[in-house]
Amino acid sequence: MSEELNNEIKRRRTFAIISHPDAGKTTLTEKLLLFGGAIHVAGAVKSNKIKKTATSDWMEIEKQRGISVATSVMGFNYGDYKINILDTPGHQDFAEDTFRTLTAVDSVIIVVDVAKGVETQTRRLMEVCRMRNTPVIIFVNKLDREGRDPFDILDELEQELKINVRPLSWPINIGAKFKGVYNIFEQGLDLFTPSKQTISERVEIEDVNSPLVDELIGHSDAVKLREDLELIDGVYPEFNVEEYLNGEVAPVFFGSALNTFGVKELLDCFVKIAPYPKAIDAVERRVYPSEESFSGFVFKIHANMDPNHRSCIAFVKVCSGKFERNVNYRHVRSDKMMRFAAPTAFMAQKKNVVDEAYPGDIIGIPDTGNFKIGDTLTSGELLHFKGLPSFSPEMFKYIENADPMKAKQLDKGIRQLMDEGVAQMFTNSFNGRKIIGTVGQLQFEVIQYRLLHEYGAQCRWEPISLYKACWIESDDNNALEAFKKRKHQFMATDKDGRDVFLADSNYVLQMAQSDFPKIRFHFASEF
Ligand code: G4P
Repeated sequence: MSEELNNEIKRRRTFAIISHPDAGKTTLTEKLLLFGGAIHVAGAVKSNKIKKTATSDWMEIEKQRGISVATSVMGFNYGDYKINILDTPGHQDFAEDTFRTLTAVDSVIIVVDVAKGVETQTRRLMEVCRMRNTPVIIFVNKLDREGRDPFDILDELEQELKINVRPLSWPINIGAKFKGVYNIFEQGLDLFTPSKQTISERVEIEDVNSPLVDELIGHSDAVKLREDLELIDGVYPEFNVEEYLNGEVAPVFFGSALNTFGVKELLDCFVKIAPYPKAIDAVERRVYPSEESFSGFVFKIHANMDPNHRSCIAFVKVCSGKFERNVNYRHVRSDKMMRFAAPTAFMAQKKNVVDEAYPGDIIGIPDTGNFKIGDTLTSGELLHFKGLPSFSPEMFKYIENADPMKAKQLDKGIRQLMDEGVAQMFTNSFNGRKIIGTVGQLQFEVIQYRLLHEYGAQCRWEPISLYKACWIESDDNNALEAFKKRKHQFMATDKDGRDVFLADSNYVLQMAQSDFPKIRFHFASEF
């Protein structure tokens, strides 16, 4: 293995920030970029957040999403580290996009609002992290505002996110009385002065019992801090990096992103403990980043919304070796060699053509329809990366052709949109009708609009009452066949021809699970 490659791998940190909308993801991202010197003023990051007023106007949303291409990946250097932040759409109708982005990161920072605690979107995203044992760090934000007791927040994080937590910093009061945080990880006191741009002053404290602490924060708060720290040591086991890396414990930081408070502490700890790119499992074998041969996979395709210009950007995560511009690589699914003259990398706000990229990096490849989500590129080897699951959608509709003259265009359009990961399609085995499954109403509108404007095809939606689509399997083939026969009206296949059971209610699903113990029901396509 070359030393250069090894050094490049070890200095990379590729992660996503996830949160429920409004918890402070955009603000935190911006402050991290500020520390990385990638931007120079606050307010420079275009929010990838979909404005609340725009939720009924999806064209507006798509425009905003269009803008977000440039900010989809933000790379910057911080000290010796190369940091890649992958942005995730906050709007829940694009949750599927976020799920897939999580397959391309090595760790995650979760932002939680101290007043609101764990919210729905955070809970769902954490489930995906748990499935993959992704290491997570939690940042409890908005300490400058009134909120909940920090011990209650820790309990809620453990219960709701189903992960052990370990505070590595601790707030001294909150809201109007917020005085700062005690940094448990590095033993120091960070005193708070409300300001959007300044970086907090650290006072090194060797012993929290020192009278200096009383002087700095007042006697009664010092007494309370000591009691809290004692309680923390009594309740929470000492922080263990291995447990964090295995996804078993989440370190917790407190701060205020808006006031740039507690952010540097978070970042400094993050670069030290967060994992660099690790081995990834392909169907054929385990692939190590330090291998000389290049490999990577497509985890996201971003369509150009200009109808006259059907081009996309395929986002490729480099898994092993060094990617180089203008070198021939094998596109495994089509078994064709391809080379890329203008691959782009994302440094802060700018998209630049790059000559090379290393494991952990994300490159954008201009594409005219060659790529599908999950596609693998390699130096030549036959590899298929695992771990790009589809999740059971939450809304379902039959899709029907509204213009019989354009059946071919409709078929092509649907296929391509599904390959792009816009939604999922199931074909009912009983009547052959096509069902589109999404996580939000908005996606149906997007599909209808894009079919018309990009493919000249018209579709119509018809209601279907479904609760969930579950992928099924069994070790006992007879049991599987018996199930399919019994439920033949509710059986379908996904785009890869796998068996899917369409449950029309939670009750029906539970009955099926208890009546057919030999069948395993899965809520994600990968198991
Ligand atoms: P998101 O990306 O997770 O959706 O959240 P975002 O960063 O956009 O933050 C949501 C709101 O919370 C913003 O206010 C932001 O200024 C505010 N905020 C973020 N961090 C803190 C904090 O530490 N303390 C306080 N008090 N507020 C914080 P907004 O009014 O919705 O938007 P804006 O007009 O300020 O942009």
